[in-house]
Amino acid sequence: ADVPAIRSALLDWYDAHARALAWRHGPGSTARPDPYRVWLSEVMLQQTTTPHATPYFLAFTARWPTVSDLAAAEDADVMAAWAGLGYYARARNLLACARAVAGEHEGVFPDTEAALLALPGVGAYTAAAVASIAFDRAANVVDGNVERVMARLCAVETPLPAAKPELKSLAASLVGDHRPGDWAQALMDLGATVCRPGKPLCEVCPLTAWCAGFRTGAPERYPLKTKK
Ligand code: ADE
Repeated sequence: ADVPAIRSALLDWYDAHARALAWRHGPGSTARPDPYRVWLSEVMLQQTTTPHATPYFLAFTARWPTVSDLAAAEDADVMAAWAGLGYYARARNLLACARAVAGEHEGVFPDTEAALLALPGVGAYTAAAVASIAFDRAANVVDGNVERVMARLCAVETPLPAAKPELKSLAASLVGDHRPGDWAQALMDLGATVCRPGKPLCEVCPLTAWCAGFRTGAPERYPLKTKK
């Protein structure tokens, strides 16, 4: 595959079509996003969709503007504010992480994927997302959106979940040192709005020229899933 052409086509698309999400400064912005806001949004987004997460994100950041404010919150207040997002273990992990950053890192998020991964409650996805979006590190950020885009782009015939390692390495082959944070978010936005679950909107996709799934005439077949 023509990696440089795919990368520039998707980054150009992102410059024109990035979603205006509450935790973003906008594509190509030179202002570095606040790592606290990136981390908080990514934890919430593992739980739910962007429209559902947005009011929670706004409420949390209004009430606890910094990670140290969140670290100092009462557990019960954070659990109450989380109500409606579901999966309370995640809210407990959120507090544990905030307290580690406040207590062991002087309120400053570490800026590498490995150091982020060492924080309590921070898994592979969150570490990669924060390293890339907040610190512009060339991390491989793979969520369900990215898996679907890779499965279609490369017409991967292995079904999920067995295909996960292959989809992850396909995603890794496209990561580069130029604008890695925008790259990660461009892939996620493409997956959410164009290469969406169900029937994709190939007529507006910037990647059809390279898309093996598009060429099959049935891109919606991908990713294949093992019958339950
Ligand atoms: N889904 C999870 N994180 C996201 C992000 N930063 N941008 C768009 N969609 C996302």
